[in-house]
Amino acid sequence: MRMVVTGRHGQVVTALAELARDHDMVTVVPLGRPALDLADLGSIDQALVNAKPDIIVSAGAYTAVDKAESDDQLAMTINGRAPSMIADTAARLDVPLIHISTDYVFDGYGATAYREDDPVNPVSVYGRTKRAGEEAVMAAGRDHAIVRTSWVYSPFGNNFVKTMLRLAAERDLVAVVADQKGAPTSAFDIAQGLFTMADQMLVHRGDPGRRGIFHLTGATSTDWATFAEGIFAASAACGGPSAAVRRITTADYPTAARRPSNARLDNGKLLTHFGISPPSWTQSIIPVVERLLKADRG
Ligand SMILES: NC(=O)c1ccc[n+]([C@@H]2O[C@H](COP(=O)([O-])OP(=O)(O)OC[C@H]3O[C@@H](n4cnc5c(N)ncnc54)[C@H](OP(=O)(O)O)[C@@H]3O)[C@@H](O)[C@H]2O)c1
Repeated sequence: MRMVVTGRHGQVVTALAELARDHDMVTVVPLGRPALDLADLGSIDQALVNAKPDIIVSAGAYTAVDKAESDDQLAMTINGRAPSMIADTAARLDVPLIHISTDYVFDGYGATAYREDDPVNPVSVYGRTKRAGEEAVMAAGRDHAIVRTSWVYSPFGNNFVKTMLRLAAERDLVAVVADQKGAPTSAFDIAQGLFTMADQMLVHRGDPGRRGIFHLTGATSTDWATFAEGIFAASAACGGPSAAVRRITTADYPTAARRPSNARLDNGKLLTHFGISPPSWTQSIIPVVERLLKADRG
């Protein structure tokens, strides 16, 4: 299976490329700038055709959630319009497309974990542009799966785990928001899930049960402050830095973009149709923290 993935150094694409080294049957081809620039819509089709995909994973995105509030045109081009081009090329090449989306398509006012068919209502520019991307992929109407995930962490790129470890090395007390709920998700668990999905989508081409929107997140939800405590516990267990957590509210930590206070996603449909049940962050965090500490020690 030749899996062409948009982006070069992002968390999900890097995890896919690493995991592929252990899978004889999968070649992951990261495809990014300059050949494929999601901000240059004219570059997308030819770059994808040249990469000769059996399946395309659309993982590249404008992910700077706060910056997007004042950069909405570029965010919309990359997150909302580029997926339409990708979906058109996938349809023309007759290859399945997996497009990655986000919990931020929901407003967070719901009391329970969101299901795939719950009404969306993004409350940020990032969320609105990602929803536009979902709509574009659905409009192309071919063999596609849209995978919504949340709170992604890994040893790569920028993420909450890396930030917490850096802060713990600098101070004894870290203030972390405790009134937003969601599920931290390891990029490796996403990658593993995507391999399983891709394999089944290729074997069962056109199966309507394996088409549409799916939620794929870590099994256990939490809040950012408790997640930080878990990161520090994992770090301390490896002899790494740790800090106490002061639990604060969203109002104490204003950001340009609003975040959903309930970002929990229900993974049930993914289990029913693909047999995938991602592990909890409490397990998956350990190898990521170990690796980050090892990298820090040189
Ligand atoms: N991070 C999260 O917490 C989170 C949560 C929910 C959903 N998601 C979604 O999950 C997917 C993967 O996220 P991630 O965390 O892996 O992202 P990331 O680490 O922030 O990386 C973003 C990726 O997008 C690529 N990209 C950005 N602008 C581009 C452009 N103009 N042309 C080509 N490539 C471009 C980057 O390419 P380079 O490597 O070349 O810079 C990079 O590979 C995204 O669709 C995101 O919306 C993420």
